Amino acid sequence: MNPFPDDIFTEPEDVDPDTLANLGPLAPLAGVWEGRKGIDLNPKAEGPERRAYLERIEMQPIDPQPNGPQLLYGLRYHVHIATPEEDTTFHDQVGYWLWEPKTGLVMQTLAIPRGQVALAKGQGQAGDATLVVRAERGGPGYGICSTDFLEWAFRTDSYELEITFHADGSWSYVSDTMLAVRGQAAPFRHRDVNRLTKVGEPTLNPLARIARGETPHLKVHGLG
Ligand code: HEM
Repeated sequence: MNPFPDDIFTEPEDVDPDTLANLGPLAPLAGVWEGRKGIDLNPKAEGPERRAYLERIEMQPIDPQPNGPQLLYGLRYHVHIATPEEDTTFHDQVGYWLWEPKTGLVMQTLAIPRGQVALAKGQGQAGDATLVVRAERGGPGYGICSTDFLEWAFRTDSYELEITFHADGSWSYVSDTMLAVRGQAAPFRHRDVNRLTKVGEPTLNPLARIARGETPHLKVHGLG
C-alpha cells in the first residue's frame, strides 16, 4: 500500500520555524561535542589495526525542510577526527541528521573523503534512549555509493550506527561498517566507538532567528 499522498506538491502550512523545538529523537544531538577516548578497528594488509582517536562533532539546526507534503527537521553535522600520533586528519565526515515528525522516520546522510556516501535510516521518537540507523549496499534507497577502487578493493556492504543517550547528557556510539576486503575471505567489521561530551550549545536556525525579529533575512543567512 503506497503510504504517500496523491498531491506531491502542496507543502505543509503553519510550519514551526524553531527547529531545536522539533527535533524529536535527534534533540539530544544538537550542539558541539568532544570525545577523547575513541577506538577504531580498520583493515590493514597485516590484519586489523586498532587505533585510539580524538573527535570533535558540530551539529547545528537547519531550517525545516519540506519535500512537498513531507516535512523534515534536522541538523547539519561535521565530524573531525585526529590521533595523538599523526598530524594528518584520521577521519572526516559531513552530512545531515533528519527526522520526520509525522512518521518517526530518522535519516543520516554521510559523505567521507574516500569517494563514498551513504543514506542510512531508522525510526525514533522524542525521548528514545537509543537511536539506530542502517544503510545497505545495493538498495535503490538507503544505500551506499563508492568510487570504483573501493568497490573493487574494499566493497562496503553495510553501515550501522547505534547511539546511546546517557543521563548526564553525553552520548556514545558504536559504528559498524562491513567491508569485503579483496583477498580476505571473511567480511571485515570496521568498528568505531566513542563517547561524546557537550562543549558548546547549538545556534538557532536562520528561520527561527528571523521569526524572532532578526533582519534583514539575507544577512541572517550569511548573504547580507
Ligand atoms: C569514527 C569513524 C571512522 C574512523 C575513525 C575511520 C578510520 C579509518 C581508517 C584509519 C581506515 C584505514 C585506512 C587509513 O589508514 O586511512 C579506514 C578505512 C576505511 N573506512 Fe573508515 N573510519 C570511520 C568510519 C567509516 C565509515 C562510517 C565508513 C563508511 C560508511 C568508512 C569506510 C571506510 C573504508 C571503505 C575503508 C577502507 C579504505 C582503506 O583502507 O584504504 N569508515 N577508516
